[in-house]
Amino acid sequence: MEKLYVAGGRKLSGEIGVHGSKNAVLPILAAAILTDEEVVLHNCPALSDVENMRRILAHIGCRSRREGESLIIDPSGADGWELPERLAGRLRSSITMLGAMLGRFARARLALPGGCDIGLRPIDLHIKAMSGLNVAIYEDGGSIFCDARNIRGADIHLDYPSVGTTENVMMASVRAFGTTVITNAAKEPEITDLQNFLNSMGARVFGAGTGTIIIHGVSRLHGTEYTVMSDRIVAGTLLVAGAITGSRITLERVHKEHLASVIAKLREGGSTFEFGDATVTVDPPERSLSVGLVETLPYPGFPTDMQAQMTALQAVSVGTCIVVENVFENRFRYCAELRKMGANITVKNRVAVVGGVQRLQGTAVSSCDLRGGAALVLAGLIADGITTIGDVQYIDRGYYRIEDMLSALGADIRRTTETV
Ligand code: EPZ
Repeated sequence: MEKLYVAGGRKLSGEIGVHGSKNAVLPILAAAILTDEEVVLHNCPALSDVENMRRILAHIGCRSRREGESLIIDPSGADGWELPERLAGRLRSSITMLGAMLGRFARARLALPGGCDIGLRPIDLHIKAMSGLNVAIYEDGGSIFCDARNIRGADIHLDYPSVGTTENVMMASVRAFGTTVITNAAKEPEITDLQNFLNSMGARVFGAGTGTIIIHGVSRLHGTEYTVMSDRIVAGTLLVAGAITGSRITLERVHKEHLASVIAKLREGGSTFEFGDATVTVDPPERSLSVGLVETLPYPGFPTDMQAQMTALQAVSVGTCIVVENVFENRFRYCAELRKMGANITVKNRVAVVGGVQRLQGTAVSSCDLRGGAALVLAGLIADGITTIGDVQYIDRGYYRIEDMLSALGADIRRTTETV
């Protein structure tokens, strides 16, 4: 089993480029089947979630090959519209295959995605939205079958601005007859990236980034070459790495507007920033101040995917911070691991009370989920002694070789494979 070994106490310095966005690449890979012509995607990191999505595409006959950070996709042979549990269950975001398969094949069968370590993650909003598009849906044991032969554009209001549901409606309706208007749509930047990708294929989608997205159905989509946006959560994680170690570092290939809520919170903790053309430099105090309150909200609010990383910083800041997780119902599991390192954190349901301490102690901890694992790495950077982090596979889902990123900035971190 692979582990990360982090020797705490090292200052970081220098600059680093941020890789492509997992949460943009995944829906865009799904959307690639909406054409039967070649699609070339650039800035696609070889994350395990991305490679799992490629396996799902291969299962339905959509071949792809990797050339460095680029993926060349040949959707011409795509003919499968069923995703078995062994594939759908491994990847929550396989649910966004639903909209793409309906858009391409007008039918889809997929296993209901399992719950996962950050909550139940049901699909009721997806089902309600597809029904709104006149898609017939049948539950069949542990899977759903959707018949979109009579799909048509419609007004779809989302009870909650679900990212995946917004993406599914965009992909299911982009080739449907008529116009679809999504209200209370998710505003995340990854939605805008999906819109831009679809429009590069000849789609007519407008309004992404606002709460209202308009999709005028077109009869077909053509191939394209597209560069995916950089990962705002990896960028935010690296900014926190700078803040937690009191180090001035510069990120390259970032969009500062995507990081506004994270930058604002770090500023409250005493950090200052400089901005260049696609660069962000964080200049933190030796020890940050507690920001008092962190509440996760849909974009442009503070991202739930940065909650764990910000909590790790609060654990060693001056003062007490209340962290409220409004998006997922079980996203504090990593706090038990931080407590093993000496953190003073009390969790009750969706609220964590974080009393900043002077020092954390390195010890053996385990990742419970993707962002919780990243938070443990950040804590290890500042802890006394060595922190070993197990279950690194969770971290690899969203960070391409996190040890290389942090080593490039001067951290003493390495990956080892321990024979058990
Ligand atoms: C996307 O997940 C991201 N994943 C998540 O990132 C991110 O945390 C989330 O959006 C919120 O920003 C990808 O893009 C691949 P939602 P998604 O639908 O689409 C509930 C990471 O760490 N809900 O906006 O699943 C749901 O349970 C991952 O990179 C329903 O109740 O998020 C959750 O509580 C984690 N019914 C909330 O809405 C539904 O039908 C937000 O879910 C759908 C969702």
